Amino acid sequence: MKPMADGRDGLRQLAERIRGRRSTNLFLKQKVSKKLIRDAIELARWAPNHHLTEPWRFYVLGEQAIAASIELIRDNAARKKDAAYGDFKAESARAVPGWLVVTCKKSPDEILQREDYAACCCAIQNLMLYLSEAGVATKWTTGEITRDARFHRILGSDPDASFIVALIWYGYPKVLPTQSRQPLENILTELP
Ligand SMILES: Cc1cc2nc3c(=O)[nH]c(=O)nc-3n(C[C@H](O)[C@H](O)[C@H](O)COP(=O)(O)O)c2cc1C
Repeated sequence: MKPMADGRDGLRQLAERIRGRRSTNLFLKQKVSKKLIRDAIELARWAPNHHLTEPWRFYVLGEQAIAASIELIRDNAARKKDAAYGDFKAESARAVPGWLVVTCKKSPDEILQREDYAACCCAIQNLMLYLSEAGVATKWTTGEITRDARFHRILGSDPDASFIVALIWYGYPKVLPTQSRQPLENILTELP
Protein backbone atom coordinates (compact mmCIF):
# COMPACT_ATOMS: atom_id res chain seq x y z
CA MET A 1 0.00 0.00 0.00
CA LYS A 2 1.33 3.42 -0.93
CA PRO A 3 1.94 5.87 1.92
CA MET A 4 -0.17 9.04 1.80
CA ALA A 5 1.24 11.74 -0.46
CA ASP A 6 2.27 13.90 2.47
CA GLY A 7 3.80 10.94 4.34
CA ARG A 8 4.49 11.81 7.95
CA ASP A 9 2.11 14.77 7.96
CA GLY A 10 -0.75 12.50 6.95
CA LEU A 11 0.06 10.07 9.73
CA ARG A 12 0.37 12.84 12.29
CA GLN A 13 -2.97 14.32 11.22
CA LEU A 14 -4.64 10.93 11.46
CA ALA A 15 -3.18 10.37 14.93
CA GLU A 16 -4.36 13.81 16.01
CA ARG A 17 -7.86 13.10 14.75
CA ILE A 18 -8.05 9.77 16.57
CA ARG A 19 -6.75 11.35 19.77
CA GLY A 20 -8.85 14.49 19.41
CA ARG A 21 -12.28 12.88 18.88
CA ARG A 22 -14.29 13.41 22.04
CA SER A 23 -17.74 12.39 23.17
CA THR A 24 -20.15 15.14 24.11
CA ASN A 25 -23.87 15.75 24.25
CA LEU A 26 -23.60 19.51 24.58
CA PHE A 27 -24.38 20.77 21.10
CA LEU A 28 -25.11 24.03 19.34
CA LYS A 29 -28.55 24.28 17.72
CA GLN A 30 -26.99 24.46 14.25
CA LYS A 31 -28.10 21.50 12.11
CA VAL A 32 -25.61 19.19 10.44
CA SER A 33 -26.14 18.76 6.70
CA LYS A 34 -27.80 15.54 5.54
CA LYS A 35 -25.08 15.21 2.91
CA LEU A 36 -22.33 15.13 5.55
CA ILE A 37 -24.16 12.42 7.51
CA ARG A 38 -24.73 10.42 4.34
CA ASP A 39 -21.02 10.73 3.47
CA ALA A 40 -20.08 9.59 7.00
CA ILE A 41 -22.31 6.53 6.66
CA GLU A 42 -20.90 5.76 3.24
CA LEU A 43 -17.45 5.77 4.80
CA ALA A 44 -18.48 3.89 7.96
CA ARG A 45 -19.34 0.77 5.97
CA TRP A 46 -15.76 0.37 4.74
CA ALA A 47 -15.02 -1.11 8.17
CA PRO A 48 -13.66 -4.65 8.33
CA ASN A 49 -16.41 -7.26 8.54
CA HIS A 50 -15.74 -10.99 8.61
CA HIS A 51 -17.33 -12.98 5.77
CA LEU A 52 -18.39 -9.63 4.32
CA THR A 53 -21.64 -9.85 6.24
CA GLU A 54 -22.11 -6.06 6.27
CA PRO A 55 -24.22 -6.60 9.40
CA TRP A 56 -24.93 -2.89 9.99
CA ARG A 57 -27.97 -0.82 9.18
CA PHE A 58 -28.09 2.94 9.68
CA TYR A 59 -31.15 4.99 10.53
CA VAL A 60 -31.06 8.76 10.32
CA LEU A 61 -33.93 10.16 12.35
CA GLY A 62 -36.08 13.01 11.11
CA GLU A 63 -38.12 15.42 13.25
CA GLN A 64 -41.06 13.05 13.70
CA ALA A 65 -38.89 10.10 14.72
CA ILE A 66 -36.86 12.29 17.08
CA ALA A 67 -40.02 13.60 18.76
CA ALA A 68 -41.30 10.04 19.27
CA SER A 69 -37.90 8.95 20.64
CA ILE A 70 -37.87 11.83 23.11
CA GLU A 71 -41.27 10.71 24.41
CA LEU A 72 -39.88 7.21 24.83
CA ILE A 73 -36.94 8.56 26.82
CA ARG A 74 -39.37 10.57 28.95
CA ASP A 75 -41.52 7.50 29.58
CA ASN A 76 -38.58 5.25 30.50
CA ALA A 77 -37.06 7.82 32.84
CA ALA A 78 -40.42 8.58 34.50
CA ARG A 79 -41.04 4.88 35.12
CA LYS A 80 -37.55 4.49 36.54
CA LYS A 81 -37.83 7.45 38.93
CA ASP A 82 -40.60 10.02 38.62
CA ALA A 83 -42.28 12.43 36.22
CA ALA A 84 -39.84 15.26 37.01
CA TYR A 85 -36.91 13.03 36.06
CA GLY A 86 -38.76 12.06 32.87
CA ASP A 87 -39.16 15.73 31.97
CA PHE A 88 -35.50 16.42 32.74
CA LYS A 89 -34.29 13.57 30.48
CA ALA A 90 -36.71 14.61 27.73
CA GLU A 91 -35.46 18.21 27.88
CA SER A 92 -31.81 17.13 27.62
CA ALA A 93 -32.68 14.89 24.67
CA ARG A 94 -34.60 17.71 22.99
CA ALA A 95 -31.42 19.79 22.93
CA VAL A 96 -29.69 17.22 20.72
CA PRO A 97 -29.87 18.27 17.05
CA GLY A 98 -28.88 15.02 15.34
CA TRP A 99 -29.97 11.42 15.94
CA LEU A 100 -28.63 8.35 14.22
CA VAL A 101 -29.02 4.67 15.07
CA VAL A 102 -26.84 1.73 14.11
CA THR A 103 -28.26 -1.76 14.31
CA CYS A 104 -26.55 -5.11 13.91
CA LYS A 105 -28.00 -8.18 12.28
CA LYS A 106 -28.85 -10.91 14.82
CA SER A 107 -27.15 -14.22 14.26
CA PRO A 108 -27.84 -17.61 15.88
CA ASP A 109 -24.10 -18.35 15.65
CA GLU A 110 -22.32 -16.97 18.73
CA ILE A 111 -18.99 -16.40 17.02
CA LEU A 112 -20.53 -14.74 14.00
CA GLN A 113 -22.62 -12.58 16.32
CA ARG A 114 -19.53 -11.36 18.13
CA GLU A 115 -17.75 -10.70 14.87
CA ASP A 116 -20.72 -8.83 13.45
CA TYR A 117 -21.01 -6.72 16.59
CA ALA A 118 -17.28 -5.96 16.40
CA ALA A 119 -17.65 -4.95 12.75
CA CYS A 120 -20.49 -2.57 13.66
CA CYS A 121 -18.30 -0.99 16.35
CA CYS A 122 -15.52 -0.48 13.78
CA ALA A 123 -18.04 1.15 11.45
CA ILE A 124 -19.21 3.47 14.22
CA GLN A 125 -15.64 4.54 14.94
CA ASN A 126 -15.15 5.29 11.23
CA LEU A 127 -18.28 7.39 11.27
CA MET A 128 -17.37 9.27 14.43
CA LEU A 129 -13.85 10.01 13.21
CA TYR A 130 -15.10 11.30 9.87
CA LEU A 131 -17.61 13.56 11.57
CA SER A 132 -15.00 14.70 14.05
CA GLU A 133 -12.75 15.72 11.15
CA ALA A 134 -15.69 17.77 9.83
CA GLY A 135 -16.05 19.51 13.23
CA VAL A 136 -19.11 17.48 14.25
CA ALA A 137 -19.07 15.81 17.65
CA THR A 138 -20.88 12.65 18.64
CA LYS A 139 -22.00 10.71 21.65
CA TRP A 140 -22.47 6.98 21.32
CA THR A 141 -25.25 6.09 23.75
CA THR A 142 -26.61 2.76 24.91
CA GLY A 143 -29.34 4.07 27.20
CA GLU A 144 -32.48 2.13 28.00
CA ILE A 145 -34.17 3.30 24.82
CA THR A 146 -31.72 1.19 22.79
CA ARG A 147 -33.15 -1.96 24.42
CA ASP A 148 -36.77 -0.90 24.11
CA ALA A 149 -38.86 -2.73 21.50
CA ARG A 150 -40.86 0.48 21.03
CA PHE A 151 -37.70 2.14 19.67
CA HIS A 152 -37.56 -0.52 16.96
CA ARG A 153 -41.13 0.40 16.04
CA ILE A 154 -40.10 4.04 15.62
CA LEU A 155 -37.19 2.97 13.43
CA GLY A 156 -39.19 0.42 11.48
CA SER A 157 -36.54 -2.19 12.32
CA ASP A 158 -37.26 -5.78 13.30
CA PRO A 159 -36.18 -6.61 16.90
CA ASP A 160 -36.17 -10.32 16.03
CA ALA A 161 -33.70 -9.75 13.22
CA SER A 162 -31.50 -6.98 14.61
CA PHE A 163 -30.38 -5.29 17.80
CA ILE A 164 -29.39 -1.70 18.43
CA VAL A 165 -25.66 -1.15 18.81
CA ALA A 166 -25.76 2.59 19.24
CA LEU A 167 -27.92 5.62 19.35
CA ILE A 168 -25.50 8.27 18.17
CA TRP A 169 -26.25 11.86 19.05
CA TYR A 170 -24.40 14.33 16.88
CA GLY A 171 -24.03 18.03 16.32
CA TYR A 172 -21.61 20.91 16.39
CA PRO A 173 -20.20 20.93 19.91
CA LYS A 174 -20.62 23.76 22.41
CA VAL A 175 -17.53 22.50 24.19
CA LEU A 176 -15.46 19.37 24.02
CA PRO A 177 -14.38 17.74 27.26
CA THR A 178 -10.78 16.80 27.88
CA GLN A 179 -9.96 13.15 28.33
CA SER A 180 -6.97 11.08 29.25
CA ARG A 181 -5.92 7.47 28.98
CA GLN A 182 -3.85 5.42 31.38
CA PRO A 183 -0.14 5.01 30.54
CA LEU A 184 0.57 2.72 27.60
CA GLU A 185 2.71 0.51 29.83
CA ASN A 186 -0.41 -0.46 31.80
CA ILE A 187 -2.08 -2.00 28.80
CA LEU A 188 0.73 -3.17 26.55
CA THR A 189 2.60 -6.47 26.68
CA GLU A 190 5.44 -6.86 24.21
CA LEU A 191 6.53 -10.44 23.74
CA PRO A 192 9.96 -11.57 22.60
C1 LIG B 1 -20.36 0.75 23.54
C2 LIG B 1 -20.38 2.14 24.10
C3 LIG B 1 -21.49 2.58 24.79
C4 LIG B 1 -21.54 3.87 25.32
N1 LIG B 1 -22.67 4.29 25.98
C5 LIG B 1 -22.72 5.51 26.54
C6 LIG B 1 -23.89 5.96 27.21
O1 LIG B 1 -24.90 5.26 27.29
N2 LIG B 1 -23.86 7.20 27.76
C7 LIG B 1 -22.77 8.01 27.68
O2 LIG B 1 -22.79 9.11 28.21
N3 LIG B 1 -21.66 7.63 27.00
C8 LIG B 1 -21.61 6.40 26.43
N4 LIG B 1 -20.50 6.02 25.71
C9 LIG B 1 -19.40 6.97 25.50
C10 LIG B 1 -18.30 6.77 26.52
O3 LIG B 1 -18.74 7.12 27.79
C11 LIG B 1 -17.08 7.60 26.07
O4 LIG B 1 -16.57 7.08 24.89
C12 LIG B 1 -15.99 7.60 27.16
O5 LIG B 1 -16.38 8.41 28.24
C13 LIG B 1 -14.66 8.08 26.64
O6 LIG B 1 -14.77 9.40 26.16
P1 LIG B 1 -14.30 9.79 24.69
O7 LIG B 1 -15.29 9.11 23.74
O8 LIG B 1 -14.38 11.27 24.63
O9 LIG B 1 -12.93 9.26 24.51
C14 LIG B 1 -20.42 4.73 25.16
C15 LIG B 1 -19.30 4.28 24.46
C16 LIG B 1 -19.28 3.02 23.92
C17 LIG B 1 -18.07 2.56 23.14
